[in-house]
Amino acid sequence: MTYKVGLLGLGTVGTGVAKILQDPAGRHPLLPNIEISRVGVRSLAKQRDVEIDPNIVTDDLESIVNDPAIDIVVEVIGGIEPAKSLILKAIDHGKHIVTANKAVIARYGNEIFSAAKQKGVYVMLEAAACGGIPVIQALKQSLGGNRISELTGIVNGTTNYILSRMYFEGADFDKTLAESQQLGYAEADPTADVDGYDAADKMAILASLAFGDRIKLEDIYREGIRSITSADIGYAKELGFTIKLLGIARRTDSNTGGKDDSNLEIRVHPTLIPIQHPLANIHGVTNAVRIEGDPIGEVVFSGPGAGAGATASAVVADIINVVAALKSMPNNVNQLMGCSHEHYAKIAPIENTVTQFYARLLTHDKPGVIGDLGTAFGKHCVSLNAILQKNTIHDGLAEIVVVTQRVSEYNFQQAISSIRDLPTLHSIPTVLRVL
Ligand SMILES: NC(=O)c1ccc[n+]([C@@H]2O[C@H](COP(=O)([O-])OP(=O)(O)OC[C@H]3O[C@@H](n4cnc5c(N)ncnc54)[C@H](OP(=O)(O)O)[C@@H]3O)[C@@H](O)[C@H]2O)c1
Repeated sequence: MTYKVGLLGLGTVGTGVAKILQDPAGRHPLLPNIEISRVGVRSLAKQRDVEIDPNIVTDDLESIVNDPAIDIVVEVIGGIEPAKSLILKAIDHGKHIVTANKAVIARYGNEIFSAAKQKGVYVMLEAAACGGIPVIQALKQSLGGNRISELTGIVNGTTNYILSRMYFEGADFDKTLAESQQLGYAEADPTADVDGYDAADKMAILASLAFGDRIKLEDIYREGIRSITSADIGYAKELGFTIKLLGIARRTDSNTGGKDDSNLEIRVHPTLIPIQHPLANIHGVTNAVRIEGDPIGEVVFSGPGAGAGATASAVVADIINVVAALKSMPNNVNQLMGCSHEHYAKIAPIENTVTQFYARLLTHDKPGVIGDLGTAFGKHCVSLNAILQKNTIHDGLAEIVVVTQRVSEYNFQQAISSIRDLPTLHSIPTVLRVL
């Protein structure tokens, strides 16, 4: 039996998917049973990088999701609309869905999975987080025997590329971003990447699978990398750290099975990582996810988080899984592949986080400044782990860098507010968290 795919989108990922499906030799034995029967695009006139019969290409995407002959709709057009409506219409017509669209899943997963459950169809999303890295399947099945306590990841290739170049070249953010845009590693509008929105979308998906509840995107604390300077990278290096945009999701009471309220932290922010940590040496556009679970301990996945081939590899794996499930259980949805989450997780507010902090302060170069800072931190129970003072830099200002012990975010922010009132303080250009 042949399974028919309706491919929505023939851009970077769609083309990669079509190329794999047209060249099955040496790949999975089910591939010859999978046929691209319709393709939907925006522009029929555009030259394509893959040979597709023009008779199956249309700009009427609704006609694909309505087509009774199609078994699986692969959505790789991106953006919120029309992608979301097309996915919901396809589900309504009983089609199984494979999507790479993290933006839609992170925002409308609830609606989409509920509709899919009602209709008894699959929604597969391996490509929606970390592109080619098979982490979704690992969380859904291979690590299913574990109680997961922590998932940390470099889940955005663009910011990792920028921060890696800043680390190795000592370059500033603006210059590195501009060069990354020229080289095609960053979008003309880099907001989704550099301000952490894309990473938050992916963390919502990964944390939901790791911790077993639905996640509201707005509950995820998010900070981007625009405030990182070459000075911060230099100090981080001197102190034995590198700086990465990290997604961090962890249970703070993993021993209890993690079902207490408000014990789940999910945050995306630039983070100082000790240089010996497995994520510290993930450079360039590469993504990596570190998962800690009981009883497995630590598992680290790394690989290409984007690109035509890598992302198509994940999309095709999902198509194969759906076809395999349909062949073995044509009338039943395989519970291992569906979404069983019904409730929203309660995410701890950022003030409850306990972590180390790094702060770079500019002070007027007067005697007693360090004492003033020490008193202000001490008053709020913030102990210091390291303090670096460089020579006066310019206009009578001194640069002081502190790294705290593990303290509560609330106490640290209280200390920072009282330090802002010190007459000897000029400014606090950077505050970062340490892993
Ligand atoms: N690129 C990656 O490396 C990567 C990695 C992971 C996940 N993803 C996800 O994969 C999805 C696709 O990304 P991509 O890079 O392949 O995008 P892309 O290169 O921009 O391709 C989008 C495709 O969708 C079609 N399309 C867009 N809007 C449409 C509309 N309103 N009506 C009909 N067709 C429309 C386009 O048609 P035309 O060709 O006619 O313009 C194009 O073929 C996104 O959700 C993205 O987040 C991408």
